[in-house]
Amino acid sequence: MQKISRRTFVESALATGAVALLAPRSIKAADSRIEILINEPIGPIAPEIYSHFMEHLGGVIYDGVWVGERSKIPNYNGIRKALVDNLKRLKPGVIRYPGGCFADQYDWRDGVGPRDKRPTRVNFWADTHYKTTKAYEDLEAGPQKYESNHFGTDEFVSFCKMVGAQPYLAANVRSRDVRVFLEWLEYCNAPPDLTTWSTERAKNGFRDPHRVSFWGVGNESWGCGGDFMPEEYATELRKFTAWLPTYGVQLKLIGSGPNGGDVNWTRKVFEGLAQKGSRQIAKLYGWGLHYYCGSTGQQVANEFTVNEWYDLLERANRMESLIEDHWRVMGELDRERRVKLVVDEWGAWHKQDPDMPPGYLYAYAGTLRDALISALNLDTFQRHADKVAMANPAQLVNTIHSLFHTYEDKFVLTPNYHVFEMYLPHSGATGVRTEFVAPKVSFTRLDAQRKEVPVSFWGLNGSASLKGKQLVLTVVNPHHNQERETEIAIRGAAIKSGEIRALTSTDLHTRNTFAIPRALEPKDSPLNANGSTITFKFAPASVTRLLFDLT
Ligand code: AHR
Repeated sequence: MQKISRRTFVESALATGAVALLAPRSIKAADSRIEILINEPIGPIAPEIYSHFMEHLGGVIYDGVWVGERSKIPNYNGIRKALVDNLKRLKPGVIRYPGGCFADQYDWRDGVGPRDKRPTRVNFWADTHYKTTKAYEDLEAGPQKYESNHFGTDEFVSFCKMVGAQPYLAANVRSRDVRVFLEWLEYCNAPPDLTTWSTERAKNGFRDPHRVSFWGVGNESWGCGGDFMPEEYATELRKFTAWLPTYGVQLKLIGSGPNGGDVNWTRKVFEGLAQKGSRQIAKLYGWGLHYYCGSTGQQVANEFTVNEWYDLLERANRMESLIEDHWRVMGELDRERRVKLVVDEWGAWHKQDPDMPPGYLYAYAGTLRDALISALNLDTFQRHADKVAMANPAQLVNTIHSLFHTYEDKFVLTPNYHVFEMYLPHSGATGVRTEFVAPKVSFTRLDAQRKEVPVSFWGLNGSASLKGKQLVLTVVNPHHNQERETEIAIRGAAIKSGEIRALTSTDLHTRNTFAIPRALEPKDSPLNANGSTITFKFAPASVTRLLFDLT
C-alpha cells in the first residue's frame, strides 16, 4: 500500500504546489524530481537483458556478420572483425539465431559440414517478402536471394564465443518435426564421439560440445511460424518440450509468445499446457514477447515532424503495459512464477534506406529518435527486472533497430549501439525502485475517424540500479527542445562522486552514416556532487547516464 501511495503523493504534491513540504529547496529551482529508493530492490538485472538477435534476412548475416574467409574486409575466420571487436565491448548476454520467421523454414542440417557441399535454398525473406514486389526482380542472385548456407550452426556458435555471448537457437516448428529438433540438440550438445551427430560435429572441427542452453520452440507461431491457433500451439509446445535429452546441459526453453498485446494467445497457450498438468508450464524458462513500435508518417527513419517524434516514443512506451499485462495473465496459471518474459524482438521499424541495395531488407541508419526508443525500452525492462529474463532488439546489424550498419568495407555504430554501451553498468546490478515526476509532454494523433486527438505521456523516465557502492541512473528526456531541471534525491545513501555521460543533439534527425560516421556519440562530463540530493539539468531530447559512487 505504501509503495503505491508514495508516487500518488509526489504527483499530487507537484500538481498542487505542495511539493515544498516534501522537498523545501526544490520548489524554486526544479520543476521535476527523481527519487531513488536504494533500499527497495526490484531484483537482479539479468545480463541477458543485454542480448541480441540476428536472422538470415537481407544484409544481416551475409555482409553484416559473414564476409567469408577470403574477403578483403578484415575478418576472424570469415566473421567481420569490426563487428566482433565492437560487439565484444557490449558484453552481450545471448544472441538469438537463425530467426525470426526464417527459423520456421530452416533445416539446420543444410548449414553444417564443408561449405562447398552445403545446399543452396531460396531465402525465406526473398521468397515471401520480395516475391510480390518489383524489388524481387532487382534482387541480384546473391546470398540474400539464394541462401548459400555458408553461415550455419558452427559459424554462429564460433561468433558467440568470439564476443562472449551464449547462443540461443530457434527450432523449426512449422516445417520440420521434433526429430529434426532432437538431432540439432544432439549435434550441439552430445559428448564427443558418442553419437552419430556428435561425431559429425567433431568431423566439422568442433570436438567439444557447443553446450547450447537456450532453445526457442518456433517463432511467432501465431503467424509466420505456422498460423497456429493457441490451443494447437500448446500441443506443439508440449510435444517439442517432452522428454528432451539434456546431455548434461541445463536446457532453457522459450515458448513462442504473443504478438504485442494479444493476451488471449498467452492465456490460451498457458491453459493448453496446464490441461496436462502444471509441470508442463514449469518446463519453460521463458515466454517470448514481440513488440515493434513501427514508424511514423512516410515510415522513413530520418524524416519525421516534432509531432511524429513524440508519436513514436509514446508507442514505444507501450512496452511497459505489455509486460504488465502478459505477466498478470501468465500469473493466473503460473502462480509460482517459474516462467519469465523473454522480449526477444523489440524496436522501431522503418523503411529501408533507398541508398542501400535492394537485398538489404529494412537496412537503415537510425537516428536520435531510435536511440531514445532503445533507452526507454532498456529502462522499462529494468524497472521490471523481476519479470524480464531476456531482451533482444531486432536486429543486430543491417536491419530494423540495428546497432551496426555496414556495407562491404563500410561500418558504422548506430545511435542504438551507444545506448547499449551507456547502459552496460546496469547489467548484473540490482534494479532499485525509482520515482519520476516531471511535466508531461503532449502531441496529437489521428484517431480511427481521422480526427486529431491530444495525447500525452511522461516528461522524464528511466531506471536505477546498484552494484556494491556504484549507483547508476539512466534517464530519457523526451521533450524536443526543453531541458528538465530536476532534483535527484537518493534515499538511503549519500554521494561521494559522480560522472555524466549523455547522448543528445540539437537536431532530432541526427544519425551516423557512412559519410559522417560519428555525428552522434555520447559525451562525458564531470559531476560535482555530494550529499544525498543534487539538482541536474537533463538536456532536451536526450539519454543521460549518471554514475554515482556512494559513501
Ligand atoms: O525481425 C524481423 C521479423 O519480424 C522476424 O523474422 C519475425 O519474427 C518478426 O515478425
